[in-house]
Amino acid sequence: MAFKKALITGGAGFIGSSLALKLIDKGYSVTVLDNLLPQIHGDSETSYLYQRIKDKVNFIKGDVCNEADWEKAIADNEVIIHLAAETGTGQSMYAIQRYMNVNIGGTGIMLDFLANRPHSVKKVVVASSRAIYGEGKYWSVERDQPVYPLGREEKDMLNGDFEPKCPISGGRVELMATDENSKIHPNSIYGLTKYNQEQSILIACKALHIPAVAFRYQNVYGPGQSLKNPYTGILSIFSTRIKNNKGISVFEDGEESRDFVYIDDIVRATILGIEKEAANYKVFNVGSGVATTVTTVANTLAESYGIEVPIDVTGQFRLGDIRHNYADLAYIKKHLGFHPEITFSEGIKRFTNWVNEQEVESDGYEKSLEEMKSKGLLK
Ligand SMILES: NC(=O)c1ccc[n+]([C@@H]2O[C@H](COP(=O)([O-])OP(=O)(O)OC[C@H]3O[C@@H](n4cnc5c(N)ncnc54)[C@H](O)[C@@H]3O)[C@@H](O)[C@H]2O)c1
Repeated sequence: MAFKKALITGGAGFIGSSLALKLIDKGYSVTVLDNLLPQIHGDSETSYLYQRIKDKVNFIKGDVCNEADWEKAIADNEVIIHLAAETGTGQSMYAIQRYMNVNIGGTGIMLDFLANRPHSVKKVVVASSRAIYGEGKYWSVERDQPVYPLGREEKDMLNGDFEPKCPISGGRVELMATDENSKIHPNSIYGLTKYNQEQSILIACKALHIPAVAFRYQNVYGPGQSLKNPYTGILSIFSTRIKNNKGISVFEDGEESRDFVYIDDIVRATILGIEKEAANYKVFNVGSGVATTVTTVANTLAESYGIEVPIDVTGQFRLGDIRHNYADLAYIKKHLGFHPEITFSEGIKRFTNWVNEQEVESDGYEKSLEEMKSKGLLK
């Protein structure tokens, strides 16, 4: 179904502003509800993300925790794309109430509005996260079956043993792609709040007969991602370090991996979710379907910028970090015909070209690590 009027919460953010620009190209009229969180935007006057949408959308500076702001924002919109969230996995472990208030509480206010007030909303799309899976899906070599390893033991990691173990036998496991039916066992408050957000929307919207769709995004990167936020976005954090001629510390043994998916692929998948009825009431992984190690990321970025900085594999680790997780994309391929189009090497080229055009500020990464250390979360 084609809609004309869309509300994007968090629409001044990385994914939201990219989506807003694409929807405007497609003829939508877009409203954005966003509180311009300083952690993401710094000063709004100089926020790249805000500046690129502010004259093109109906911008409402407001908070998803405020009912009156929802009322203004929902107005006569036909579709809500709910992206506003607190997004730092590590930070969520010591700003717990804040993460719960915004991610769970904010969603509750929206759903109460849809349940109790007149509106013209015909679809809700929510950004969920691969963080809800925690450690992904693996094959147990001894047990000859898929397993979902628990969080890793601190004592193993202190000995330099970073690989997850079979939760049944304690033996060796091999990484598999994580599908949508994989076990949900987040190991961060962030992941838990995203699962709550996703399920609250699916359950309430089903009862209200408003089609809802959830996307479990993997690690999204690309032009526009915040270069100011030291709490999330490894490509930005490493880029800011390299451009400031500072060395990079890679945690664990550097072989931990993530699924890096380019922003244009995320926007394309999300628009399929908005427009295709086949998406209704379903949950989809969106990723590249490829696991890339953190060492590869660090080396590829340094090479791409042509700046030599020391890349130090420290053996340090963050409690609660997962080892690997990459998306099984069979379900989204089958129902929405989606497959990622931008390879990691092409995406990195586009991302670093964009970073080269930005003014890169001094980075707050060391401060964020100090914060984690002081909370006992960094070993
Ligand atoms: N970027 C990723 O790798 C990734 C991965 C998985 C899931 N997600 C999810 O996708 C969504 C968008 O992520 P993003 O990368 O664009 O993040 P982002 O931080 O760039 O954007 C989030 C936006 O929400 C706004 N916001 C935060 N709290 C708010 C509040 N209380 N009221 C109103 N606005 C508020 C911020 O100002 C920001 O503009 C989030 O829900 C996130 O959990 C992102």
